[in-house]
Amino acid sequence: MSDSRTVPPGTPKRIGVAADHGGFESKAYLAGMLREAHYEVVDFGDTEPKPEDDYPDFVVPLAWAVARGEVDRGVAICGSGVGACIAANKVRDVRACLIHESFSAHQGVEDDDMNVICLGGRVVTNTVAWELVKIFLQARFSGAERHRRRVAKVARLENREINPPG
Ligand code: RB5
Repeated sequence: MSDSRTVPPGTPKRIGVAADHGGFESKAYLAGMLREAHYEVVDFGDTEPKPEDDYPDFVVPLAWAVARGEVDRGVAICGSGVGACIAANKVRDVRACLIHESFSAHQGVEDDDMNVICLGGRVVTNTVAWELVKIFLQARFSGAERHRRRVAKVARLENREINPPG
């Protein structure tokens, strides 16, 4: 991997981050690391760790920003990463996945055009989370015909162009 403290040419530069209380500390750490690595960070909250806050209130605005191209990619964190992932995927054109290991962090982008990485703040250490985020941000969609075809089939489902069976 190239020097993590510099942004390679063509790399997404404007990164949105969002977390509830379960991911707050992880978000703060990752935002700091991203800024040190010269990424522009847009923070969708929460702004302080509040035990009663709700992940959709932060993850959904992040997902909309990704869908509209206002940020290049997103990092969404809750305690497990599950709720963040479910919420983000409700927004059209968002392809979010809960990631725990490096293979999926890059293959999810290369094959599936993943644009939001979801992390469990209570599951992965900050060090592992940062490694996963770096791998995610340095990966590119391959654009291969078979992968475009598969992503397009999912998009047709999202756009309700494919009717449910029966
Ligand atoms: C909040 O306590 C927790 O449920 C939330 O952060 C997340 O893990 C949901 O998936």
